[in-house]
Parts: sequence; C-alpha cells; structure tokens
Amino acid sequence: KPSAAPFVPASHTLTAINAALPTCKGCDLYCHATQVVPGRGSLHASLVLVGEQPGDQEDLQGEPFVGPAGGVLRRALAEAGIHDADVYLTNAVKHFKFVQRGKLRLHQNPRMSEIVACKPWLLAELDALKPKIVLCLGASASKSLLGGTFALMRDRGKILSTPYAEQVMATFHPSAVLRARDEATREQLYKHLRDDLITANQIAL
Ligand code: URA
Repeated sequence: KPSAAPFVPASHTLTAINAALPTCKGCDLYCHATQVVPGRGSLHASLVLVGEQPGDQEDLQGEPFVGPAGGVLRRALAEAGIHDADVYLTNAVKHFKFVQRGKLRLHQNPRMSEIVACKPWLLAELDALKPKIVLCLGASASKSLLGGTFALMRDRGKILSTPYAEQVMATFHPSAVLRARDEATREQLYKHLRDDLITANQIAL
C-alpha cells in the first residue's frame, strides 16, 4: 500500500519534516506535480488549519493557500480576527493532483488511498506543533483525521477528539465558497467558514 511513512524522519521537528518532504515518493502524485508544498505558519500556533492539497498556484509557488481559495481563506481569517502569527496552514495531501486539459490543469480530488498515504506527514506536523485545536477545511482533510465515515454536512462544527489532536473540528473548504452555485449559497458557506474559524480560535486562545 502507498505510504509516506518510510520518508518521514524520526525526529518530528518542522525543520526535519520540511527537509525530508521533497524526497517523498510515498504515492504516485509526486510524478506530475511541480514540487511538494509544505505547511506554513507560526511554529507556536495553537490553531492548525488543514486543507486538501495544493492547487495550481500553490504547486507553482511552493506555498499553501496562495491561489483563489487562499484569497477566500485570508479574508475569512482577517474577518475572524485571526493573525498570521496565530495559525499554521497545511494540507492533507502535499502534492497537487490534476488532469491536464489544454493549457489548464484541473484539480482532481485525492483518493482515500492518497490521503492515507500522505497522513504520516500531517501527523508528524501535528506532533511537532501540538496545537490546541485542528480545523479541517473540507471533506479530504476531515477524512484524513476523522475517518472515511465523517460527513461534513452532518458533522461540521462538532468538536471531536482524535489520537493526533485532542480537539478536531471540520468546516467547509474555501474553494466550496468559490464553487457555490448562487450568491446566497456562497454567502452562507462563507459565513459558516468564518464563524467556524472564530469558534476554533476561541478554543485555541
Ligand atoms: N486548497 C487547499 O486545500 N490547499 C491549498 O493549499 C490551496 C488550495
């Protein structure tokens, strides 16, 4: 079974983790991605946000949440009164998964096997950071930390306990806001995202 485990260093410091990340061949996604995208943020963050995987821009720039979804997330963080120094941003899967359509690279959802393969990186990051609370953004991060039976629509906003972090919560992914079918839905999803960030930050404080 594909797994990043053989590539993850025994020492769970972010320096060691990020130095080892580019060597990962734990699943096939490294073959087509430009580069691995490590997490980014405060080493003292008590709030960790976990996205799905890097998008097109993140893959090119090597940083998480620098594309359109990152714009939504940054606005929500600002409106929630959360500063860069308070959070660490990372992803459940560290390489961009896409299909080429002409000039466009279209995002593809990671398979459960890819999420599971990449999980040792995420767990090492959580071990290094030991945050008060982890907020999963969207279904993929939720599946990684809360299991395949987690249902975002049903379980969003609940505070759950896991072996990797004492408190884990899930909310909508910022890209779900961008994909919303109409303005009313977009506004509703955005407010949920912002309010869940506020809740998580209150726990983190
Ligand atoms: N979407 C994610 O889930 N993560 C990123 O880093 C960018 C977009």
